[in-house]
Amino acid sequence: MRRPFIAGNWKMNGSKAEAAELIRGIVAGAASMQKVEIAVCPPFPYLYVAEQMLAGTAIAWGSQDVSREEAGAFTGQVSAAMLKDFGCRYAIVGHSERRQFNGETDAIIARKYARAVAGGVTPILCVGETLDERESGKTEEVVARHIDAVLDLGGAEAYAVGVVAYEPVWAIGTGVTATPEQAQEVHAFLRERIAAKNKAVAEGLRILYGGSMKPGNAVELIGQADIDGGLIGGAALKASDFLAICQAGEDAA
Ligand code: 13P
Repeated sequence: MRRPFIAGNWKMNGSKAEAAELIRGIVAGAASMQKVEIAVCPPFPYLYVAEQMLAGTAIAWGSQDVSREEAGAFTGQVSAAMLKDFGCRYAIVGHSERRQFNGETDAIIARKYARAVAGGVTPILCVGETLDERESGKTEEVVARHIDAVLDLGGAEAYAVGVVAYEPVWAIGTGVTATPEQAQEVHAFLRERIAAKNKAVAEGLRILYGGSMKPGNAVELIGQADIDGGLIGGAALKASDFLAICQAGEDAA
């Protein structure tokens, strides 16, 4: 049985004070939840706030990106070792917004994934198709390419130490959610693709859904056989909404 996992991707939102307030609300509300795993991924500067407030609680924290380089003259980048230094358990890699706005390729993302693992930080790899790609029947081809980049570099074993998030680009921040059936279909496809290389790794891999997940649709999505939790954007910025989604994970465990 895979442990349900709900992670909040705060993106580039909030202030130091708002980060602290949000974390305070989540800690208070999650105190009764033991089965679901919960993480927050604030912007880099607020990781310090997360570390200060979450150390000793059951809630993990992580970053939204990580450098593909180990250390040195890479202005503006943040290494896996630095994330580890701030107690990060997770690093999101390959989010579609980074693919789109920062020109990240599959090759770059696979290196980030490997760098996170080498640094002792668990990568959360985002995969997903655009609306155009879905409408032209290319969903499986696109998500397979995203998944294969890590398979090609690190083998199926790389997925023994990571998490995958299926985030259809057309569902991110749009209010349009993939139906549970649409999401389940892609999740099953992703798991099968890894199972073809290593069945045990695929069985143990947590595959989260992301894209307008909210309290009103979380139960049904997480209820699908291959959906092991959520990567939450907008709804992760309001403690009550995020906690309601965490509760859906708790109840599914
Ligand atoms: P929304 O939940 O705002 O659609 O964002 C999802 C996402 O991109 C999480 O990484």
